[in-house]
Amino acid sequence: MELKVLDHPLVAHKLTHLRDENTKSPTFRALVDELVTLLAYEATRHVRVQPVEITTPVAPTVGVELADPKPIVVPILRAGLGMLSGMTRLVPTAEVGFVGMVRDEETLEPFTYAERLPRDLSGRQCFVLDPMLATGGSLGGCVKFLAERRANDVTCLCLLAAPEGIERFRQLVDGLKIETTLVVAAVDERLNEHGYIIPGLGDAGDRLYGVI
Ligand code: PRP
Ligand code: URA
Repeated sequence: MELKVLDHPLVAHKLTHLRDENTKSPTFRALVDELVTLLAYEATRHVRVQPVEITTPVAPTVGVELADPKPIVVPILRAGLGMLSGMTRLVPTAEVGFVGMVRDEETLEPFTYAERLPRDLSGRQCFVLDPMLATGGSLGGCVKFLAERRANDVTCLCLLAAPEGIERFRQLVDGLKIETTLVVAAVDERLNEHGYIIPGLGDAGDRLYGVI
């Protein structure tokens, strides 16, 4: 697995406001949206393109367009949904699949409650969205699920990750033997005893959509 950590003052600035407990949902959503655009720029560095002939007002030329089959974006519900519009703004022709997962707050293991994905993902570039990689169970479970649908090229976009979660995720995906890239805005210090990222930003889903 390849790990890419964004190193940019604008990202650090926006993350600081995102982490702040005084930042309310409307601003939190806007910041997530802006940060995803920056993550997506890096995450799509190897998106496949094909040549296309066009004519400018002065001359014919050859450019590129996204190749077929088009990429598929997979937000992990619920919090990953907050990252979808930022991603599709940059890649508007991508298709979108959905995986719904929630972490059991006692065992910290994820439970999959929804899925809407193509049966065969072979040859598709998959982009998984989830703001938080804590223990790594949810992201790992989702990538395993995609691999069972024969995905072999998966890039995951996360805002914050814990070192423990990255390691667990690495072991899982290396075992799946598929090409995997993880792009994160920041790697935090550690997990606390409740499986929350420290310093983190709290519960991403609650901060986006309210406490359930
Ligand atoms: C959060 C987050 C990840 C998961 C990370 O979702 O969005 O999916 O926890 O934790 P892990 O790495 O230990 O699996 P949550 O389960 O709270 O569900 P939600 O998105 O519906 O709020
Ligand atoms: N899920 C979150 O939303 N935040 C954490 O810190 C850990 C898991």
